[in-house]
Amino acid sequence: MIRFYFTMVLVCISPLLICAQTTDMDAKIRELMSRMTLAEKVGQMNQYNGFYEATGPAPAAGDARLKYEHLTSGKVGSVLNVRGVDEVREMQKVVVENSRLGIPLIFASDVIHGYKTLAPIPLAEAASWDLEAIQQSARMAATEGAATGLNWTFAPMVDIYRDARWGRVMEGAGEDPFLGSKIAAARVRGFQGDDLSATNTLLACAKHFAGYGFAEAGRDYNTVDVGTYTLHNVILPPFKAAAEAGVGTFMNAFNILNGVPATADAFLQRDILKGDWNFDGFVVSDWGSIKEIAFHGAAGDLKEAARRAAIAGSDMDMESYAYVKHLEELVETGAVDEALIDDAVYRILKAKFELGLFDDPYAYCDNEREEELLYNEKHQEIALDMAKRSIVLLKNEDDLLPLAGNDQKVAVIGQLANDKTSPLGSWRIGSDDGTAVSVIEGLAAYEVNMSYAQGPALWRGNPSFVTEVEVNESDRSGMEEAVAAAKEAEVVLMVLGEHGFMSGEGRSRTDIGLPGLQQELLEAVHAVNPNIVLVLMNGRPLALPWAAENIPAIIEAWQLGSQSGNAIAQVLYGDYNPSGHLPMSFPRSVGQVPLYYNHFSTGRPTNQENNVFWTHYIDEKNTPLFPFGYGLSYTSFAYSALQIDDTDPNAVEVSVVVMNTGNRTGEEVVQLYIHDPAATYARPVRELKGFEKIELSAGEAQTVTFRLTPKELGYYQPDGTFVTEPGTFNVQVGPHALEGLQGSFEWE
Ligand code: GLC
Repeated sequence: MIRFYFTMVLVCISPLLICAQTTDMDAKIRELMSRMTLAEKVGQMNQYNGFYEATGPAPAAGDARLKYEHLTSGKVGSVLNVRGVDEVREMQKVVVENSRLGIPLIFASDVIHGYKTLAPIPLAEAASWDLEAIQQSARMAATEGAATGLNWTFAPMVDIYRDARWGRVMEGAGEDPFLGSKIAAARVRGFQGDDLSATNTLLACAKHFAGYGFAEAGRDYNTVDVGTYTLHNVILPPFKAAAEAGVGTFMNAFNILNGVPATADAFLQRDILKGDWNFDGFVVSDWGSIKEIAFHGAAGDLKEAARRAAIAGSDMDMESYAYVKHLEELVETGAVDEALIDDAVYRILKAKFELGLFDDPYAYCDNEREEELLYNEKHQEIALDMAKRSIVLLKNEDDLLPLAGNDQKVAVIGQLANDKTSPLGSWRIGSDDGTAVSVIEGLAAYEVNMSYAQGPALWRGNPSFVTEVEVNESDRSGMEEAVAAAKEAEVVLMVLGEHGFMSGEGRSRTDIGLPGLQQELLEAVHAVNPNIVLVLMNGRPLALPWAAENIPAIIEAWQLGSQSGNAIAQVLYGDYNPSGHLPMSFPRSVGQVPLYYNHFSTGRPTNQENNVFWTHYIDEKNTPLFPFGYGLSYTSFAYSALQIDDTDPNAVEVSVVVMNTGNRTGEEVVQLYIHDPAATYARPVRELKGFEKIELSAGEAQTVTFRLTPKELGYYQPDGTFVTEPGTFNVQVGPHALEGLQGSFEWE
């Protein structure tokens, strides 16, 4: 009872003071903070990128020298991008054995979809709609990341976005806040497990808070200007889901949001995150984003940027040197209240205690565990399973797929078919180039009777994480050989798409068709042999109207990670029946972008007057090429018997019968959408509010039931108030956003 009473008193003292459980950890943190100087407190709020010289003799000069001195003087709280147990151990020793209080560092990195063993890129994983598999994938990533000495990953990226021009669509869960929220929570659970002090879990980080995915024109780092109606109903829900799942940290965003740099936005970080949501973790800036407050024009210099960021609730400064240079003085001159520093430092130290770093700063540094876990057959199996589930069958005319058998003469064409690196995606910092199973290798494992012709190269040179990809637009060498190989084959497998570094950070495109000479290659091959299976390997939705019209079979194989070629081969030859469904709309043309299923009706949704005055283009349809939620199977499914039970005043139950009407077992993603056609604020024409992935054997039927409560039926008004309004609700249950059985009910 005393415990309860004491906690209640804390709440009355200061909203900024974390309402910490009355535990000995709280007492330990406070005791440690009581011994810290202001400089040491500020040091905890400072994060540097790793540098190799840290584990040898002290660096002689330059940035590394400065960072080394700061390590030894307790002016660094965290380091990112330190590779491997030996490096982590040595750098931890520099701090623990030399700084006055020996407060251990927290080691972070971008373990986005694997470390050494790579799962599919997150957008591909989202296409599985399989929350269990996604959580297991994050679990595997955390196991490997922690085995290398890391304690913290900058994942999951939970941004919602609607613009395939933006390179980072590969990193999230697509365009929908409901699916995005479920996946955000699954990834947090996967990374963090049940015990952050375990040496196979990582502290997770919900990023980028907030609005980064709405960069104007899909151009990375560009301006974001959205109303609070979109902010509350589309952008924030996955962040809130991550917070409710217990994510330990947030990372803010590079962009300005409605005129305020997110890193300096107290409305986001203090009012919403730490206030309304009562978040008790800490917020790290994005790389240099505090310094960039000045570049946005919202601070005159680095010192003002530091002041604004600290007051706005950015607890840790990644690589701006803003806090380490200016925060002490800002506190001493009264420009920043020391209570804010104490709040930030408490949050950071709390994470270090929860990670077990104060019990043993070297607990994550075990060379044998690193060796055993980084080259691990079980992880390859997890990666393969996740990859298979992520593949989306977009078209399959005359059941060209699955391929008849390995004696069928197959011509494999495209540079990506032989590429062992692009399938690893752009966030493969811990992995090794050339370690993915290529399509050619996957087919060889099936002893396929195949020939290979690369065709004209898609890229030249050796692209890297920091350099532009040099796309080949002119050298047609290889075209004739590819066409000749196609002529001789019964089936042509064309593996086309994007190099792994044509999506990801800093990789926006204005044209989202097949880059380089690939479209020309596709049409040249089609002219001699139309029996083509197009295997797409890409990090974003592509606009492929010609292919959708002319190519009989198309699979979306994204960038599937270490086991890419094996997963693709198993789908092509029918050992796995594809079950993926699109987490993001595929446009007909880049001119339609931003394009998303949960759009508003507009005042002129249809051509009622048979004139031009309605919402449309004169040169393109409004609809996507392939809609959100779309995905085919080697079998077929029928929906029937939609029933709506609204007898319960607190919830409505919607059920449907789904039957496998084909001749083989398959998985279907049954999707429930709602629409409130008359609300105080216009509601989207469809909103995903439930889904279930089910497996049915041939001829089998199953009833799927969804429960709609005020939580699903309601929405946020622009001021952030959540309301559920009475009236008619339309429902749709089916295989994707544009198809399904329709019904409606009255909500009182
Ligand atoms: C990058 C990214 C962020 C990443 C961080 C550290 O610029 O925006 O997602 O976690 O820097 O690498």
